[in-house]
Amino acid sequence: MSSSEIRKKFLDYFAAHGHAVVPSSSLLPDDPSVLLTTAGMQQFKPYYTGEADPMVSPHPALKGVPLGKKNATSIQKCFRTSDIDEVGDDTHLTFFEMMGNFSFGGYFKKEAIKYVYEFIAKEMGLRVEYVTIFQGNESIPRDFESAEIWRLLNPAIEVREAGMEDNFWGPTGSRGPCGPTTEIYIKNAKGESVEIWNVVFNEYLCAGSREDLMSGFGDHTLEKLEVLGVDTGMGLERLTMTVQQKATIFDTDLFAPLMDMLPERLDTRKKRIIADHCRGTAFLLSDGVRPSNKEAGYVLRRLMRRVMVYEYIYRQANPFDTLSVLEKVTSMYQQFYPELDWNVIYEETIKEKEKFEKSVARGLRELEKTTVIGTEAAFRLYETFGLPYEIIKELGGIKAEQLNRQDFDVRFKKHQEISRAGQEAKFGGHGLILDTGELRARDEEELKKVTRLHTATHLLQAGLRKVLGDSIHQDGSDITVERLRFDFNFDRKLTDEEIKQVEGWVNEIVKRDVPMGFTNMPFEKAKASGALYSNKEKYPAVVKVYSAQDHATGEVFTKELCGGPHVTHTGEVGVFKITKQEAVSAGVRRIRAIVEG
Ligand code: SER
Repeated sequence: MSSSEIRKKFLDYFAAHGHAVVPSSSLLPDDPSVLLTTAGMQQFKPYYTGEADPMVSPHPALKGVPLGKKNATSIQKCFRTSDIDEVGDDTHLTFFEMMGNFSFGGYFKKEAIKYVYEFIAKEMGLRVEYVTIFQGNESIPRDFESAEIWRLLNPAIEVREAGMEDNFWGPTGSRGPCGPTTEIYIKNAKGESVEIWNVVFNEYLCAGSREDLMSGFGDHTLEKLEVLGVDTGMGLERLTMTVQQKATIFDTDLFAPLMDMLPERLDTRKKRIIADHCRGTAFLLSDGVRPSNKEAGYVLRRLMRRVMVYEYIYRQANPFDTLSVLEKVTSMYQQFYPELDWNVIYEETIKEKEKFEKSVARGLRELEKTTVIGTEAAFRLYETFGLPYEIIKELGGIKAEQLNRQDFDVRFKKHQEISRAGQEAKFGGHGLILDTGELRARDEEELKKVTRLHTATHLLQAGLRKVLGDSIHQDGSDITVERLRFDFNFDRKLTDEEIKQVEGWVNEIVKRDVPMGFTNMPFEKAKASGALYSNKEKYPAVVKVYSAQDHATGEVFTKELCGGPHVTHTGEVGVFKITKQEAVSAGVRRIRAIVEG
């Protein structure tokens, strides 16, 4: 059975069972709390939460016409950045297609399980190896009902149980529907059991993100949904692999034509990366993403540059042409996704390639000036010119003899941790490992110190508000390795007693050693939650809110919009001391403080 037949069978089956067939929505979602579309339910999210009614509200993918049904089916373009580093093995992809059926108050567990079982067993002729259900926890009950439905449907099927990590889905973004899942496992050609279909029963609305729900941080209250929902997802690539009895997804007809275009001698992992990244590139570009240094644009740039690096390195020994691969992707997929736009793909790829080649040329000049290329020098070339490890190793020749992948990866990881801590990934280098404008650090040691001072700054502001009143707000902040400097609106000198009280309060929170963490939320929601923010700054649609909170008592000591980084527990800050106070201008005072220990 070809993948095109599978597509057709899937949509036909659910259409015949009362589902509206809905085209895939864009990879760029409407929901500002999500970077890229990662699941089929995304475009239906408002139906689950009750914000829209499938019978009457216009649906964006249907050019404003309502679904007119309480059930829908789709094959959705999805992109998961979380798997980007795994691509190249047998199973991981960035871009993939997800087949799904959805219900918003139309049917629930009994019909949903019957449909998926019937489709797998009868339409696809596959044997179900086993299924899983949610085992329950302190606050959410075990899914007895699903277990019973499976048992009645086919007593021979083994029902296993798992916890939150595996059998509880959602929410997508900073707030959304979620609930227990039942998952179907099938044996693949290698005899391994693979999860093929995830069936979610949306019973709750979670006030926070999945991160909040899993970590217990932030507001993750679960509320019973008024309309019970079904949301299922099955990767087309994985199903095709199983049906076609192939060892990997790359051997299916969804990938084979791309793999066959690449030089035979090029190693398999790299071929898979090229095939995956070219699919991602073609679809992201066609949905309007452009390579840049932030957000979705940065993801796209990473995909494009990685392939360009391979093309460049193997130009003599194993040449291939990225544009031809992209053209093949376009011709293979255009019948299902008419939005694939070859002109855009072609032009944007040429443009990015020119930039890439300029970078390589500049990097080369720098390489020539460097006598020995060790880990640090290589990392600098990467940071400054965007030159990846492979190119540096290749072009460095004898000078880079000592350079090895492992050390570079360690250095890179360090950098990633720092980036993740809040700073935007930058291509422009300056010898600093962190520069947020407010705080700067040259190495790990300094990073630790400024991070402690940064958390101290938040506590200081909270302490000042405690002692001097809630009208106090930040008017400027600067952090060096030695000290913090904090400006705020106040029109007189603080008394010694007030200084002592502020210090005492901060040190009290330090002593309590409470967790300091963040949650992502839409800007408006963050403001409404009472988190401190600055009127002078421009914030993105989704912001990080850092808070120090005692989970046992529920007390919140500081809550601010901030990019980080911060310590994980207030105890790490150390002993806090105000060293100086002065006037900056009329009505603005400045405090300098240090942390010790
Ligand atoms: N939303 C669930 C998933 O992505 C089921 O569709 O797996």
